[in-house]
Amino acid sequence: MRLIKLNAIDSTNSYLKQLSAGASLKDYTVVQADYQTQGRGQMGTQWDSQATKNLMFSVFKDVSFLDYTTTFYLSMVTSLAIVKTLEGFMVPKVKVKWPNDILSENKKICGILIENVVKQGQIKATIIGIGLNVNQTEFAMLPQASSLLLITGKVYDLDELRVSIVKHMQYYFGYLKKAEYAFLRKAYEKLLFRKDKPSTFAYPNGSTFPGVITGIAANGNLIVQLEDRVLKEFDLKEISLRY
Ligand code: BTN
Repeated sequence: MRLIKLNAIDSTNSYLKQLSAGASLKDYTVVQADYQTQGRGQMGTQWDSQATKNLMFSVFKDVSFLDYTTTFYLSMVTSLAIVKTLEGFMVPKVKVKWPNDILSENKKICGILIENVVKQGQIKATIIGIGLNVNQTEFAMLPQASSLLLITGKVYDLDELRVSIVKHMQYYFGYLKKAEYAFLRKAYEKLLFRKDKPSTFAYPNGSTFPGVITGIAANGNLIVQLEDRVLKEFDLKEISLRY
């Protein structure tokens, strides 16, 4: 594993993407920054994080073994690694809000941004960006956000958390490499926020509908039971889960 630590950068994902375009990188090359000037979130959003308080890093992984129909397993592997790490640090009630948010006590403490490197229609590598709110205590404009310090009252060492997350990623990537999809899916399903509970979902246009998450399909789609008891699958661009 190679670790590149930076004081400040636009985005660790962007930096690692550029690096991977110009050189062949080793698996688990990590770029970590104290501060990002243009941190990026899912769906083109911004990821703001106070300097030195939180964990912001990106991991390079060769995934040329992966079929494009199974790319959601990258999110499962990453979510599992983060949840297992946080549970190891005794963080309470850690759940995954499908598709990519990690919650503790129903508040978002971590986001994941996965960007795949695709060449000639084939996935070659992936860049997995992780933003974990650790020792920050103010989230002025973000009522759903929290941090490990706010939730547990403890200050955490950022490097210890990062080392543990990467170790757990290596563990779960072992299962993905061996195509142990059912194992990963079952483990991920157990972590799902609002599984088997009546919930509200939203389409990209903002309209909402009620349903119950029953599980994850073999291709990683979310399975939702609709009001008429019909089961329907959705992929991550089709709907989002409201709190
Ligand atoms: C989200 O929840 O919207 C995903 C947030 C991902 C943030 C991390 S911080 C490290 C890496 N670099 C980025 O620019 N984004 C990810």
